[in-house]
Amino acid sequence: MKDKVKEVLHYDNLKTIKYTHLATTIAYAKAIGEELGYTQEQLHVMEVGAALHDIGKSLIPSEILNKKGRLDDEERRIVNLHSVLGYEILKSAGFGVNVAEIARDHHNPSSRNPMAQIVRAADIYSAMREERSYKKAKSHEEAMEVLRSARVPQKILNALDKKYGKKTVTNPIQGFSTQAAIA
Ligand SMILES: [Fe+2]
Ligand SMILES: [Fe+2]
Repeated sequence: MKDKVKEVLHYDNLKTIKYTHLATTIAYAKAIGEELGYTQEQLHVMEVGAALHDIGKSLIPSEILNKKGRLDDEERRIVNLHSVLGYEILKSAGFGVNVAEIARDHHNPSSRNPMAQIVRAADIYSAMREERSYKKAKSHEEAMEVLRSARVPQKILNALDKKYGKKTVTNPIQGFSTQAAIA
């Protein structure tokens, strides 16, 4: 049984998710939630969802997920399945509906789940503000432009502006390790 699970779960895939990206996504989601008046309990649910939003990647074949270069349509479709697979994993693991829906909707601009909308915004904002091997970090304003064109709701944009606009220190987790989240 254990071997069967090992065969299906591409646990190594989760190594490609960086500590910094996860930690900032969690921190930005929490900051937005605080601005919007979420309770401690709601914030906690959202943090758990933010931490686990990409868990479905563990069911995507590594050779597709980590393929260098462009994915074809079929490969893109398979990678996109990580959202709904994450939903299934989290639901069957006994997480609440919001945590599961955050995973399901974290790439869906039309989600009706406000927590998923927030984590989606935090995920994009984090990716924009982060320096990666192939790109420089964007400024707050540049990142906001990307969020606007990604149809992030206005009240989430306002919350991010209030929290991170016109400030010099914008990295909520300065000093965090840049190692992979799961070693
Ligand atoms: Fe994702
Ligand atoms: Fe992400």
